[in-house]
Amino acid sequence: MKESQHLVQKVFLKTFNEEPLLVRSPGRVNLIGEHTDYNMGYVLPAAINKAAYMAMSKRNDDTIFIVAADLDESYTTTVSNCNYSDKGWPNYIIGIVDQLHKAGFQINGFNAVVSGDVPLGAGMSSSAALECATIFSINEIFHLGLERMQMVKMAQKAENEFVGVNCGIMDQFASMFGKKGHVIRLDCRSLAYEYVPFDLKGTKIVLFDSMVKHSLSSSEYNVRTSQCGEGVSIIQQKYPQVKTLRDATIEMVEECLAEESNDIYHRCKYVVEENNRLLAACEDLNAGKIEDFGQKMYETHQGLSELYEVSCTELDFIASCCRKESGILGARMMGGGFGGCVISLVKEDELENIVKRIKEAYWNKMNIGMNVYITQIEDGTHILK
Ligand code: GLA
Repeated sequence: MKESQHLVQKVFLKTFNEEPLLVRSPGRVNLIGEHTDYNMGYVLPAAINKAAYMAMSKRNDDTIFIVAADLDESYTTTVSNCNYSDKGWPNYIIGIVDQLHKAGFQINGFNAVVSGDVPLGAGMSSSAALECATIFSINEIFHLGLERMQMVKMAQKAENEFVGVNCGIMDQFASMFGKKGHVIRLDCRSLAYEYVPFDLKGTKIVLFDSMVKHSLSSSEYNVRTSQCGEGVSIIQQKYPQVKTLRDATIEMVEECLAEESNDIYHRCKYVVEENNRLLAACEDLNAGKIEDFGQKMYETHQGLSELYEVSCTELDFIASCCRKESGILGARMMGGGFGGCVISLVKEDELENIVKRIKEAYWNKMNIGMNVYITQIEDGTHILK
């Protein structure tokens, strides 16, 4: 049994002296398709073997009593009066209650204990994991009858409206819909999705954690979402059919934006290129052309670094170390940016030496001890007990 699972069970029993519902909701990786989700394009994520664990039971009154076992902190509020908390972590839980309230669901209070092993601020979506664990648990104990996709949308809205990050749907979707051994190709506009077996024999998905916490990410993230919106409104003046960057072509971007501010032009050029790149990368995957797939990951990194400008010195350095390794098929920064991890595809028989070399190089250059996660693709949100 995972340590975090054991911890939530133990703390729950000790605090509330009853048996809870126990839910696991994973973090995610994304192979390619970054900053495309809120532009209504495609993404290719998978749920991983790192997760949030939540133990929950219902109460007969209005009180919400939650414990963060890893922090040894608790927080109390009520269903009828759940305001933003300066503590930070309760907002991912309270934000869900707020969404349910807005959607007209009547629920009682609850007791909950949460723990997890998704590293915080490493770009592996610990927040989406917590939001999905919360809505899944509440749905279960109060028999709300919500379907997974409804829960995904509400969890995303909780992040948008309560936490204040205008994120797309990818993280909450991947946490909820993950499937062992598969990546998911999601069309973020129609929400149609397809499970693609990810069976690269002898290859592992390895995350090199820069250990840089993405403190800029929420403010700069929101700047990127509005820059994309500005780009769309300029393109629309000539091409009214373009509703999002998903509808734009490279030619349109060149024609309408090349004369605009560099920022708007570069951001939009990256998004349109990345969307095309993902579609081509999926064909590589189907055809077993894994080297070509890997090359596209490097191209994504370059676009994120130079055009979208969401990378940082540390991530660029790790990506450049990966490029020098013949045992690495592809690598790029992952997630929102400004810190977090580089995702890479590493040949298993060279794994140990490669990890050693990259850790060493990172230490020598940046004086930072790096964490490395060798991931497995696991199922999405589910009940453990
Ligand atoms: C964060 C957001 C996602 C997505 C990625 C970038 O993880 O939560 O919605 O936009 O950044 O691809």
